[in-house]
Amino acid sequence: MKMDVGFLLVAVILLCSGASTKGDSFTINVNTNGSYSIAVQGNVWLQSAPTFVRVNKQVFSTADGSLKLLETTGTSGSDFIGKWQATNFLYQASTCRFLASIYVYTPDPSIFSYNNPPEQFLLFKQTYLTQTNATQAPSVDETIAGFPGFVVEEATAPLGYMSYGGDMYGDSSKAFGQFGPKMKITSGIRSGPLAIFDRVKTANTLILSPASTFMAANLWYQTSSTGNNLYWGIMGGVSDITPGFETSTILFYSNQGINKGFVSWGQILQKMYERDNSFVKSDFTNNYLGYWTDNGAYYYYNTEPQKNYQDTILDLAIAIKETGIPFRYLQFDSWWYYKGVGDGVKTWESTPEVFPNGMQWLYNKTGLPISAHNRYWASDTTYAKQNGGKYAFLVENNKALPIDQTFWDDLISNGRKWGLLTYEQDWLNVEFADVPSLTYDAYLGEMWLNQMGRGAAKNGVTIQYCMANSRHLLQGISIPTVTQARASGDYHPGTQQWRIGVTSVFARAIGIAPFKDNFWTTTVQPGSPYKGAQEPYTELNAVVATLSTGPVGPSDMIGKFNKTIIMKSVNSDGLILKPSRPATAIDNMIRRLAWDDFEGPDGEVWSTYSDFGGNNKYGIVLAADLQGSYNMTPCMAGFQGFPNSMVFSAKDPNKVQLLTDPQPLLLSGCTMVDFCLYYVSPVIPFGGHQVLIQGELDKWVPMSPQRVVDITVDSSDIIVRIAGASNEQVFFWFNTDGVSQRVGCFVDETGFTSISYEQMGCPEA
Ligand SMILES: *[C@@H]1O[C@H](CO)[C@@H](O)[C@H](O)[C@H]1NC(C)=O
Ligand SMILES: *[C@@H]1O[C@H](CO)[C@@H](O)[C@H](O)[C@H]1NC(C)=O
Ligand SMILES: *[C@@H]1O[C@H](CO)[C@@H](O)[C@H](O)[C@H]1NC(C)=O
Ligand SMILES: *[C@@H]1O[C@H](CO)[C@@H](O)[C@H](O)[C@H]1NC(C)=O
Repeated sequence: MKMDVGFLLVAVILLCSGASTKGDSFTINVNTNGSYSIAVQGNVWLQSAPTFVRVNKQVFSTADGSLKLLETTGTSGSDFIGKWQATNFLYQASTCRFLASIYVYTPDPSIFSYNNPPEQFLLFKQTYLTQTNATQAPSVDETIAGFPGFVVEEATAPLGYMSYGGDMYGDSSKAFGQFGPKMKITSGIRSGPLAIFDRVKTANTLILSPASTFMAANLWYQTSSTGNNLYWGIMGGVSDITPGFETSTILFYSNQGINKGFVSWGQILQKMYERDNSFVKSDFTNNYLGYWTDNGAYYYYNTEPQKNYQDTILDLAIAIKETGIPFRYLQFDSWWYYKGVGDGVKTWESTPEVFPNGMQWLYNKTGLPISAHNRYWASDTTYAKQNGGKYAFLVENNKALPIDQTFWDDLISNGRKWGLLTYEQDWLNVEFADVPSLTYDAYLGEMWLNQMGRGAAKNGVTIQYCMANSRHLLQGISIPTVTQARASGDYHPGTQQWRIGVTSVFARAIGIAPFKDNFWTTTVQPGSPYKGAQEPYTELNAVVATLSTGPVGPSDMIGKFNKTIIMKSVNSDGLILKPSRPATAIDNMIRRLAWDDFEGPDGEVWSTYSDFGGNNKYGIVLAADLQGSYNMTPCMAGFQGFPNSMVFSAKDPNKVQLLTDPQPLLLSGCTMVDFCLYYVSPVIPFGGHQVLIQGELDKWVPMSPQRVVDITVDSSDIIVRIAGASNEQVFFWFNTDGVSQRVGCFVDETGFTSISYEQMGCPEA
């Protein structure tokens, strides 16, 4: 990160009285004695907790004066994020010096995609100025210093919280509730970003998370008899700190609600680390239909009767050809490689029992590239020098950690020979927690993920994270080959892991696509490994996967593919017809999760859209497992700034209604089997009529940027230019004054055609 211009290089102004900086409805009050508070709309939301630093196995804190404030200074400057003003508290603990700084940033508006971008955000920075030893906390889940810190107390006006935590993108231990002493925030190495919000119409929202040294940073939720505090800092296992070491925490305020707050927070972090989104955009497995064999899949540690995996895969390849379903790659899960101590991976090569003729032979036969699973390394891995291998590894407990760039380069390069496209690194949380050095060393975790990322980049391979904590994903912002990550627990037919709408808020913000995992498209599949489990929600799983913008991966047994369902996600080449950004839980759904009595939907209500620039914005609303009904305005859906639009149900495109704040959409009867799917199209006044482009209604996303390349409206015609597979037949709907009409067109050999509303056809063809 390039933010630190160096506080010593700029003018130092001694602050003699309290400094206060006002943003729109957001104020930080900083006192020269080291305390600070955050106010929103004039109400104090957060009051600082004592700053502390651990040195020589002791805690030095401002609470008892053992952490001595030597000097408070003011500095200012600017960098590629924006202009900043900082207050710096210079502390002394024993013989060590520690700087705690509060940077008030006025970010460059070009960072943000929204109008009225946030005027300010805060960066809390810790800098160790001297060698500081024996800093370890009693637990890795604590922090070795606490700054910023906030007292957890009931605010005068009730505040809610949402905290990400645990694995699967911070999904597994996410929590919601009223901000206060009874919170259930996940603390320590499994912690994640925290949002705090109020109950007003458009939620005022604060978002707090680490802003650097992501693999080493913790949120510590300190609970004690004398009171509870929230602290950010370096994880408790780290013991010796070298001079100049820095870590920082971002506090972002949004007056545009939770979803938009996260987007802007994510845009700042993406800017800080110059995230390159080109890998996500071009990623083959994010863009094309794949066939999956991971947990929940029919062929997860399960082959056809009396056949090995090789013959099962060959049969699958034949079935794929025969059905004409455009699966473009195969995912091989943990069943294919050698296991060692503690069930870790010993050698990442196929066993002769699984593929007697080898991976390359199989790849040559099927022609289908591979997304390949991997897990934590076993202590007896054959790659480690300790075991006679070629590469440097740390071997600790029963696990191993590669610490050698050439290892990753070679491993992934070798995979290219058998069709490796996406390297799936699973068990990230377990590798992190079980290799002690990863929690003792402030740099090792980052090095591990960076080496993996570079190895992939050198070979044109992308990476999927699985069982990743929030720290892995935040680190992934600076690793462009990390393009996708699992966002909920493992799939099993009939279970509820499709509920990724809340986690997708985080995923959308940082630009690493959320993955729903595999799913069945046929309810009953005899002989599966799941003891007669059934999937009653085939369509719901398919629509969720498609709206995620991550991989779409059915996992049916041969003969049980439902082609009708699968083809609703893709074009005839297998290109996923997805929206512009992941579908996310609407703000009021999140607030209803925090407060039972909040007037939000009691169930899943998500929204997304396709944005073709200008007024060409096409919304999508998905509601499922919704108790009772819910009236949703365009603002609640996050459709502020959309043009005059109408909404209609996927089931009945003839029944259109205006969607405005006074005329909301009534969502009711939205179950998991019979979910509600609505589309929103701008009203186009044309020849005295009201025309809607409804798009390809036989797909989940009727107006996808993967299909529609241009929309031209003038007084003579409405022309929609589309892309597709050569000779693909595409059906497209227009609605005139409430009546829908279907046009069928063939894409030409170059992969394009234009659909004319006036002619209800494709004049070029
Ligand atoms: C610091 O100053 C503020 C404002 O004067 C005061 O409210 C607070 O109690 C002081 N804190 C300490 C630890 O002295
Ligand atoms: C701190 O630890 C470092 C590295 O472990 C060591 O070289 C140094 O002597 C120690 N310094 C003090 C003051 O104990
Ligand atoms: C696979 O095909 C490649 C390219 O044609 C060839 O070089 C290689 O020998 C084949 N491998 C196997 C195991 O058949
Ligand atoms: C495929 O799914 C659709 C939609 O759920 C259903 O109507 C149809 O009967 C299914 N087809 C088969 C062959 O099961």
